[in-house]
Amino acid sequence: MKGLILSGGKGTRLYPLTYTRAKQLIPVANKPVLVRAIESIRDAGVTEIGIVIGQTGPEIRATIGDGSRWHVQLTYIEQPSPDGLAHAVKISQDFLRDDPFVMFLGDNVLQGGISTLIRDFAGNPWNSQIVLKEVDNPSAFGVVKLNPDGTIERLVEKPKDPPSNLALVGIYMFDHHIFEAVHAIKPSWRGELEITDAIQWLIEAGYTVSPHVHSGWWIDTGKPTDMLEANSCVLDELTPQIAPDAVIENSEVDRRVTIESGAQIINSVIHGPTIIGVNTRIENSYVGPYTSIYHDVEICGCEIDRSIVLENSRIYDPEMRLHDCLIGRNVTVRHKAAKPKTLTMNLGDHSEVWLA
Ligand code: TTP
Repeated sequence: MKGLILSGGKGTRLYPLTYTRAKQLIPVANKPVLVRAIESIRDAGVTEIGIVIGQTGPEIRATIGDGSRWHVQLTYIEQPSPDGLAHAVKISQDFLRDDPFVMFLGDNVLQGGISTLIRDFAGNPWNSQIVLKEVDNPSAFGVVKLNPDGTIERLVEKPKDPPSNLALVGIYMFDHHIFEAVHAIKPSWRGELEITDAIQWLIEAGYTVSPHVHSGWWIDTGKPTDMLEANSCVLDELTPQIAPDAVIENSEVDRRVTIESGAQIINSVIHGPTIIGVNTRIENSYVGPYTSIYHDVEICGCEIDRSIVLENSRIYDPEMRLHDCLIGRNVTVRHKAAKPKTLTMNLGDHSEVWLA
């Protein structure tokens, strides 16, 4: 069995963060989503993994390397343009050969890992296994309609009028017959080779596609709100740890807080689940639940909760609590004391600001 992680794509829904960073490298609970995908596949016993990369490929290669840090062997597969998930499978044929494989969308986070799924697939004569999850907004996903006996009736990509509330989760298992499908299908109205069309092709050709309905949480981190939701879910499951060299002075830090190496918490209150990154300094501040502050950040005179702050950012004395914020790298937020009392902003393209 091999693994295939899809880490190409444009990430337009996460602008402006994804102008300068691959979306799969944005950390959730201080660990890039792509690293979580690699670890899920490795923990299921699969160590030969291909990573499909696009225009952000150089950054992904530089950050992830050859995979030895995670005890896996990585092969990078370049996709010239993001022409669809089935296109990514098509260009990976030389790497995958005739081996069965698990395909994982590099921006998806799934509760509970994939070991059971892989075991089920390996132990059954199925040509494919797909994972489904009940969602409130099926129109945003590939949707599957099941027959009364639990087999698949049909799949449809982002339907206006969804035939069910079962969305296709970004984890799929295939044997080599998927290559017949990806070579046979044509691009959709949006110009992409759709994986839903390829799976529908398998079903119509008489191959066995087994559906598995996932009971835990699953998040496709496509939009900023999804990132914050994924961050909350992962933080809820994190085993808290305080690094031996962390400094905690005159502060209240509850049992559900993780503090990484070299971090300093001075005159502050930290409520978990929360993670404070390497060499980050929190001073005279409140950091509330469901917050991930990444490495080398400075937060002073601030109240913040349910947020993600990336590396090297500085937040000084905002007058109001920061809530539901996704703050990128090297960002400065500061209080302006001088008159006149105005808002002064220097925002990148596609930034969003909500003023109280
Ligand atoms: P999407 O979220 O469907 O696409 P995207 O990353 O381009 O995002 P947006 O819609 O915001 O512009 O992609 C799901 C995952 O699959 C993601 O990790 C990127 C990856 N992908 C590829 O590797 N190749 C592709 O051709 C496509 C469409 C996506």
